[in-house]
Order: sequence, then C-alpha cells, then structure tokens
Amino acid sequence: MPYGSRLAATMTRRLGRECVYTPSARLALYLALRRWCRPGARVLMSPLNDDVILFVVLAAALRPVLAPVSVWDGNIDPAAVPESTWRNVDAVLTTNLYGMPDHVVELRRHCEALGIPLFEDAAHAIGTHVDGQPIGTFGKAAAFSLSKHVAGMAGGFLAVDDARTRRELELLRDDLLTPRSLATDLATTLRPLARSAAHTLHLVRPVWRTLQRLGLLERDGFRMDLHAPLLAACAGRAPSLTAYEPWVRVDLHGYRSRHGSLVRGQLALRMAGLDRDLTRRRAGVSLLSGTTWASPALHERAEHDGLPALFRVPLLVDDRDALVERLVRHSVVSGYVYDPPLDDYAGAEFVELSPDPSAARWFAAHVLPADPLLAHRIAGALTRERATTAHPSVPAPVPEATPPAILGH
Ligand SMILES: Cc1ncc(COP(=O)(O)O)c(C=O)c1O
Repeated sequence: MPYGSRLAATMTRRLGRECVYTPSARLALYLALRRWCRPGARVLMSPLNDDVILFVVLAAALRPVLAPVSVWDGNIDPAAVPESTWRNVDAVLTTNLYGMPDHVVELRRHCEALGIPLFEDAAHAIGTHVDGQPIGTFGKAAAFSLSKHVAGMAGGFLAVDDARTRRELELLRDDLLTPRSLATDLATTLRPLARSAAHTLHLVRPVWRTLQRLGLLERDGFRMDLHAPLLAACAGRAPSLTAYEPWVRVDLHGYRSRHGSLVRGQLALRMAGLDRDLTRRRAGVSLLSGTTWASPALHERAEHDGLPALFRVPLLVDDRDALVERLVRHSVVSGYVYDPPLDDYAGAEFVELSPDPSAARWFAAHVLPADPLLAHRIAGALTRERATTAHPSVPAPVPEATPPAILGH
C-alpha cells in the first residue's frame, strides 16, 4: 500500500477527490508546482502569505508574481490584476488566508480562459465552502495542512482529480521523503501534547516568554530573516528542496520526513475529531464576528455560505503590534501575522512586485488573526485592552453584506 494511504483515504471520503498524503502542506504544494509548472514559470500569488510558501515557490524554480489584494481579507483581488499580468502568468496559487476563501470561481474562470493551472492552498481552509462547494475542489490541485486543522504538528494532503495523477504524485513524493527516525517521530508526537498541556496548565505566557528570551523561536519578528545573499546563491540549484531547506523547513523541520505509524496513528485519531473541532471553531467565529473588530468580509461570507469554521478570524485593529505584545499577558499568543507583505519583505530581486501594494500593507499591519477556539478569552482581552477598530484610510468599497448593527464587546 502507498505510504499514508489510510489517512489519504479518510481525506478522499471527506473531499470527494483523490488525495496523496504528505508530511506537510508545504511539501504538497511543492509537488503540485513541480508536476504542473516548468522551471522559470510565473506564479500569481498573494503577498500576504507565510514566507515559507514564497520559498517553496522559489525552490520549485518559479517566479512569484505578486497580486493586488482585497483590503478586507488579504486574498487576491482578481478584478485589480492588470490585463498585462494575466497574459503573463503560467499558474495561479490561492491562499484562502485564515480560512476566508479566495475569489475562486473568478480565478478559475481566468485560469480556464488562459489554459493555466489553478492551485489552491487550503492549509487554512478545511472548514470553508464557496457556493456550497468545499475549498480544495476548485483547482487542478489543492494542499491541506493537518498541522493547522487538527494541531497535529505534521501531516498534509494534495488533492487531485484522478487516480492516475495521484499515483504519479505518490512516486514524486516518495523521491522527496527523507528517512524516518524514531527521535523525530517521538518529538512530532509529543509536541502537540506538550502544547495542549501548556494551555491546560495556563503556562502559555511563561513558556512563550522563555522561548523568546532563549532565542529558540525561528523568527524574531513576524517574518524569518531572508538572508538575501544566501538565497540568491541558491537560485542556480533550483528546482531543489535541499538547496532551500533552511528556509522551507522553518516551524516544521519534519516537513519531508517519512514519519512512522506512531505519528500517522496520532494523526488518524486527530482527524477523527475534525468535525467536532470545526463545530467549535464555527461557534468561536460566530462570537468574534459579532464584535466591532471583525472584518466586514466575514459578514459577507456568512451571508453567502453561512459562517465558515475559520482557522483564524481576521480582526482589524489599530496599534496591532502593541496589542500582540499585550495579549501575551492574557495568555494569547498571536501567530500567523504575515507582515510586511512579500513585496516589501523579498523585494524585486526575488519576486515580481504587485502594481499597488497599499491594500496589502494596510491589511498586513492591522489584521489580528484570532483563534476562534479562544474566542471568549480574546474578546475579553481586547475589551480590557480597549482595542479600537481599524478602518482603511483610503476608503475601500465595503463588502455588500455588512450587518446593520455591529456589537462591541
Ligand atoms: C497559508 C499557508 N499555507 C501553507 C502552509 C504550510 O503548511 P505546513 O506547515 O503543513 O507545511 C502554511 C504554514 O503556516 C500557511 O500558513
């Protein structure tokens, strides 16, 4: 049986698509990019994404072309992508940032018209639908991350259309996997348990501060150090995961490890709890969407497809950086802040800059990604900290379905 096929079968039943198991979503995305894009191809993507994904695209020997985004959810704004850019891209990669869906129907229409593949990064979006159809079923291939969905610290899938493509990708994956080690498997199994213990014992704040002081976090700020000269020197070796390893492995060193049954067994158990988890997420989204800080995009979403079970709820706040610091006092560690946008982080040497990065800059500087599983704690902490709602200075059209009354907390 192919590696991870039991987990893949569970995902196939959920999604209705053929799935390849991978130890991470980043490896799943790399597989898709390698399978469908020739080296040198240009990939349209949002500048508001994990830096790791930028490095995955570079490792596949591709050129990231940064798109304009919506100021309300940080995803690609297809209508603002210039015609000249559409004519010059070879693929599109969505983000579904925090679980808020991309304009996937419109993007697919563009891709079909141009005859280019659409890749869905569904790492944040297992609980999101568009027109009743799950994210991850619109594009040529879609990557999912169990680290995000079930806090597994490992695991992912690449969803594709047919069994023949799946088998082909399984072989490509097997070539990229590194051998299993019991020590890595134990660490991968124990880390999520240690994390829930820290939460249960209210140790989040001291543990986080200690890691910070000891320099054990892989990022000093919201983004990792680019090490531009070293990165530039790798270009000649791409496509190669090995060349880009120091960047691609950040936060998940086992991203290409052939984990054994200990890790996969734990992931199977966690996947069995996924629907319960999504229900809890939806309840947290419901609470946070009724606060003054919720992005109006959330209300528009709720109007169309009901409340999504988001990975994080995009709240828009003034003085976001100071708030992130102060929230640690309330045992809330805010991750997944992608600031600055990739235009400013990587520059023209590594990416093609978007025509107007102002919406991306504004969103990146004001979004507070709130874990819906901690909705009560976060809403209480923001109230105590007197957080104020951020409004873009350049008026942007508010999504249609802004609710008539927005409650404060
Ligand atoms: C948008 C997005 N896509 C993909 C990934 C990669 O997921 P994984 O850690 O499973 O490789 C991340 C990681 O944070 C992410 O934020």
